[in-house]
Amino acid sequence: MMKEIYQVPTSQSLQGDVIISGAKNAVLPLMAATLLCRGISIINNVPQLDDVNTMAEVLRYLGAKVEHQNSSLTIDTRECDGYQAPYHLVTKMRASIYVLGPLLARLGQASVALPGGCAWGPRPVDLHIAGMQALSAKVELSHGNIHAHAGRLQGADFTFSISSVGATVNLLLASVLADGTTRLFNAAIEPEIDNLVDQLNAMGAQIFGKGTSTLVIEGVTELKAATIDAIPDRIEAGTYLIAGAITQGKVTVKQVQPAHLTALIDSLTATGTLICCEDDSITIDAQQRALQPISIKTGPYPLFATDLQPQWMALCVSLTGVSQVTDTIYPDRFQHVAELCRLGANIRVKGNTACIIGTPNLSGAPVKASDLRAGAALILAGLIASDYTEISDIHHLDRGYQNLIGKFATLGATIKRSHHPVATNQAIAAPLLSLCG
Ligand code: EPU
Repeated sequence: MMKEIYQVPTSQSLQGDVIISGAKNAVLPLMAATLLCRGISIINNVPQLDDVNTMAEVLRYLGAKVEHQNSSLTIDTRECDGYQAPYHLVTKMRASIYVLGPLLARLGQASVALPGGCAWGPRPVDLHIAGMQALSAKVELSHGNIHAHAGRLQGADFTFSISSVGATVNLLLASVLADGTTRLFNAAIEPEIDNLVDQLNAMGAQIFGKGTSTLVIEGVTELKAATIDAIPDRIEAGTYLIAGAITQGKVTVKQVQPAHLTALIDSLTATGTLICCEDDSITIDAQQRALQPISIKTGPYPLFATDLQPQWMALCVSLTGVSQVTDTIYPDRFQHVAELCRLGANIRVKGNTACIIGTPNLSGAPVKASDLRAGAALILAGLIASDYTEISDIHHLDRGYQNLIGKFATLGATIKRSHHPVATNQAIAAPLLSLCG
């Protein structure tokens, strides 16, 4: 049997420009929003990624026609009447739960499989459910599914007990067609939410307070199809900026919104790199000075993004000195730690904090990507580890990094995707037996 791996050789300092794709975490809610109308919606700047394909599959299952050409997605919902999102699709991607709000709002019913946990913990959806109930939906959980029904949803006040991107998305998608006024307090303020508000307002919704944690929605009876551009992927951009830092190179990320990356830029500047922002590009220059590791703590936007935490850890691991990485969003998001340690990193995790003693002497080894961002961290560490780093379970990276090999190649890194034989049971059993015995 064969499995696909990335082979990452030690790289020179990365140099050059890389064009950043549209944000998958913006596109997924934009796609779900098209279920709110009967018409032909267009989303531009859409990356070719597995998660986008999965959401397209969910929409098709519900009756939509979806075409993805170049970077434009055309979604025809004129004959879209399905209200069930089954487990075999939801289990591929948690964001499938975004269809709950729009189906309930337009059709008065929705049946969506519970997404279950992910690599680093349970990741509940209680806020999504409580929010629908606040809008007068009746919700039952049975056989692993969320069954929700309502006449017309009723506008209401709802306060998120913690900031949640996904629950804010779902509540927006439900409340735009509700009867009366909805006020959402402590709503997430990530740029992807603003992108969704822009799309919904272009469809005819009445949402006020964009960019703030209090959103006021005056429900309307109908929405029409619209055309929207997805915002640039701030996490992809951040990953390439950290790649510039870790290889002591000079990298420009283009077609980005620098304001979305303030926390990362501040932290990179504190390490000693030089950062130059233009209207839609950011250049990092890490060639001239010895960098020092900087401690970070993740938090809701505009604080340091949890989706850049593993990549930042890879940087700290490679810089001489002591630092700490704390994740306040996902206290257990540390699956990459054991893999980074296989490359020679010195990391200890206590609670939601990883304590790192950095060393530039990492050595290449076979490692496993446990999730998308963990995989990105291993690529970054692999660029400076000696010899080759072979990363398996790379399907995780296909969910969120478009043309990863091509983009790294433009910067001078020659990452290869190849097939690798998987050990047979017998071959695996032998070393295990010797370990046990
Ligand atoms: N939470 C609850 N109950 C809920 C919802 C969330 O307790 O009903 C908790 C979560 O367990 C977590 C915190 O609230 O501790 C924040 O989670 P949030 O709901 O904001 O996360 P999400 O919407 O499920 C999105 C991104 C993630 C990103 C997080 C945090 C998408 C499709 N996913 O997830 O992206 O980590 O926000 O910024 O937008 C990734 O791209 O690699 C990724 C995991």
